[in-house]
Amino acid sequence: MQSIKSYIQDNKDRFLNELIDLLKIPSISADSAYKGDVLKTADAIKISLEKAGCDHVEICETEGYPIVYGEKIIDKNLPTVLVYGHYDVQPPDPLDLWNSPPFEPVIQKTDLHPEGAIFARGACDDKGQMYMHVKALEYMTSNNELPCNVKFMIEGEEEVGSVNLAKFVAANREKLTNDVILISDTGMIAKDVPSITTGLRGLSYVEVEVTGPNRDLHSGLYGGAVANPINVLTKMIASLHDENNHITIPGFYDKVENLSDAERAEMAKAPFSLDAYKKSLDINAVYGEEGYSTNERNSIRPTLDVNGIWGGYTGEGAKTVIASKAYAKISMRLVPNQDWEEITDLFKNHFESIAPNGVTVKVIPHHGGQGYVTPIDSVGYRAASKAYEATFGKTPIPQRSGGSIPIVALFEKELKSKTILMGFGLDSDAIHSPNEHFGVWNYLKGIETIPWFYKYFTDSFK
Ligand code: BES
Ligand code: MN
Ligand code: MN
Repeated sequence: MQSIKSYIQDNKDRFLNELIDLLKIPSISADSAYKGDVLKTADAIKISLEKAGCDHVEICETEGYPIVYGEKIIDKNLPTVLVYGHYDVQPPDPLDLWNSPPFEPVIQKTDLHPEGAIFARGACDDKGQMYMHVKALEYMTSNNELPCNVKFMIEGEEEVGSVNLAKFVAANREKLTNDVILISDTGMIAKDVPSITTGLRGLSYVEVEVTGPNRDLHSGLYGGAVANPINVLTKMIASLHDENNHITIPGFYDKVENLSDAERAEMAKAPFSLDAYKKSLDINAVYGEEGYSTNERNSIRPTLDVNGIWGGYTGEGAKTVIASKAYAKISMRLVPNQDWEEITDLFKNHFESIAPNGVTVKVIPHHGGQGYVTPIDSVGYRAASKAYEATFGKTPIPQRSGGSIPIVALFEKELKSKTILMGFGLDSDAIHSPNEHFGVWNYLKGIETIPWFYKYFTDSFK
């Protein structure tokens, strides 16, 4: 399949320009002001799938944003790959920290991307990575290299919890039957260290509200005599970790799977430089749960983090006030076997139970999802591994990621098939952050590697 390389060479500029056009549409699912743009993006994906050779493409309406479904069925007796991705993006703020506007993509060189990287919201997460699959399909259909059936399911609500996709999957099991699910929405260790993501963490996301007095008070007249909701909230949050950075919620660790020493030793073999890690973040030390390495802390261990906290006066200058209310948004990353709804309940009960007299506490659950691990001896994993060998000249390292794609566990439950996570992003690509980017090299390498997956996967059925 040498010609995928020359096909990319011949079409590289067009591949980049098409992605750039897609990145110009601000498909921010969290912000209803962008509704028109999110819908416009779905239409653009539909057209791109038609052009890439799908026989049938449709926009499937949901109660929220639509799912773009496309398929090319060449022979019912051949295996079917189901590609999943998302066309929605995270809000771009804080805008002033971007070096170029988030929806005006530019290609700029960086230390890690001397070939250039596309800077735009969604460049890596997930428009760029999703579009690699569209271009790989284009190559396969136009060069008579598509060896099996393919289905595409591209959603517009991943960044807000995939609630409607979950319903769509449950209601369309027949339509979505497949032999493997293929997703590029994760990362790899480094450009010269290919890896396949074998695990995703689950998630429980909650908001808490602490209410004290019925109105904001003068902090001199009332200070010291009533509970200050902000003081109380910060104290409650601080108590959620002990001196070893262990989470103190009773029952929180009950279902956490403990990896064997052998599995941990295997994990520790992945190349990692603590110095480079600290340097890249400008921190003088790492911080986390006692007894675990950095890579363990951010993948096989559960966490609890405040994502935002607010209340009282935050404007210019000083205002002496005790606020009536204080708020925080808290995420808990979970590992396989921890049930996100159960963890949400444990959190709620515990948080309410530690509220001191003088305040009331409300816990508002947001969204969540289960974690996922995929075995490395499945047909799909082996095909992916060979595909990387073909294009990187190296066997990829299995690696569990700290991020979450909650729908993946549901795919396995509803569709009974394994998901293979072939991510081509780098941790330094700044997803969800200002100056998100995706290396041109990574983008093209993804397009090059994907057709090999189809080939090896189909071969394994012969
Ligand atoms: N693509 C990411 C998840 C990801 C990134 C996993 C890198 C592994 C490596 C996805 O779009 C995402 O951001 N997921 C959210 C959860 C969702 C429910 C909002 C997350 O992980 O915070
Ligand atoms: Mn994503
Ligand atoms: Mn994301």
